[in-house]
Amino acid sequence: MTNTRLAAGPDRRFRSDVISGLSLARKRLPSKYFYDAAGSRLFDRITRLPEYYPTRTELKVMRTHAPAMAARCGPRCQLIELGAGTPTKVRLLLDHLEDPEGYVPVDVSGAHLREAAAALAADYPTLDVEPVVADFTAPFDVPDGRAERRVAYFPGSTIGNFDPPEADALLRRIARLVGPGGGLLLGVDLRKDVNILERAYNDSAGVTAEFNRNLLVRIDRELGGNFRASSFRHLAFYDAAQSRIEMHLVSDAARQVRVGSSTFDFRAGETIHTENSYKYDVDELAARALDCGLRLEERWTDDRGYFAVLYLTATGLDRSEEE
Ligand code: SAH
Ligand code: AVI
Repeated sequence: MTNTRLAAGPDRRFRSDVISGLSLARKRLPSKYFYDAAGSRLFDRITRLPEYYPTRTELKVMRTHAPAMAARCGPRCQLIELGAGTPTKVRLLLDHLEDPEGYVPVDVSGAHLREAAAALAADYPTLDVEPVVADFTAPFDVPDGRAERRVAYFPGSTIGNFDPPEADALLRRIARLVGPGGGLLLGVDLRKDVNILERAYNDSAGVTAEFNRNLLVRIDRELGGNFRASSFRHLAFYDAAQSRIEMHLVSDAARQVRVGSSTFDFRAGETIHTENSYKYDVDELAARALDCGLRLEERWTDDRGYFAVLYLTATGLDRSEEE
């Protein structure tokens, strides 16, 4: 059974976010805007690329340890998935959960979410599937239920697309959402050899480049822009000091770009910073999570130590609130 809830239009801010990001001395665009229908399809292709190890590795960790993860979630839980445009991994969990009270997939990419939720509901006919189209960095409503416990599921290392202060704010929000005793099952990509990391974001088929440039295609179409995405080159590299992959779009020449009635000047070689993808050390992240009111209970990883899935419990103590 599905019943989509619509939160107050996440797309309304698209124009103002684009204008303010392009007005910065170092131009930036928020990575959540990658995910229109075309961007979500491109991301699905990325997950199947030979160089993009995260999805494959996380799936392997889930396949091996899903029974233990489901045991942590406990019976009659309400499962709330954040960034659920491609809900493949959750099936492994649902197959082992004891009498789940409901599944609430949350995503900004509305059409993609609804389609995926309908397919999932057809395969799990006794499960209440209630998709919520929302930006999970802002407040959104989750249906009330009689669940024993709320558990947030945040796979894919999507947390890594947020800078540390935003990621911490998100962890705090999740701790409040699930309440004391509630859980968070979190997928995180780990630090590793720079060549493996850089290859994952510079695939030979050019799908990541197309995913990156799709943001400009979207601005041109939806906001009346004239970027002409092919004039911008994809750039992705690992910054070891910040433990993050940075993605940029590089203007190949000096130009003026229009977005609606606003204009922006680019120097030759100037970039728009479109995404960060932080790579983690589990103990460091666990210490930060504890400050945000989430205590690490168990971790599962693959043989190579590429990717980890963590189970954390909301303590009810947000240390930032104590100060
Ligand atoms: N969970 C999947 C997909 C990861 S891609 C996986 O593990 O492979 C990131 C997903 O998060 C996309 O579906 C995107 O639409 C969604 N997303 C990104 N930022 C978001 C935000 N601020 N609010 C809601 N959804 C967001
Ligand atoms: C969704 N997110 C975790 C992906 C990542 O790896 O940071 C998005 C992505 N960007 C380029 N490739 C994949």
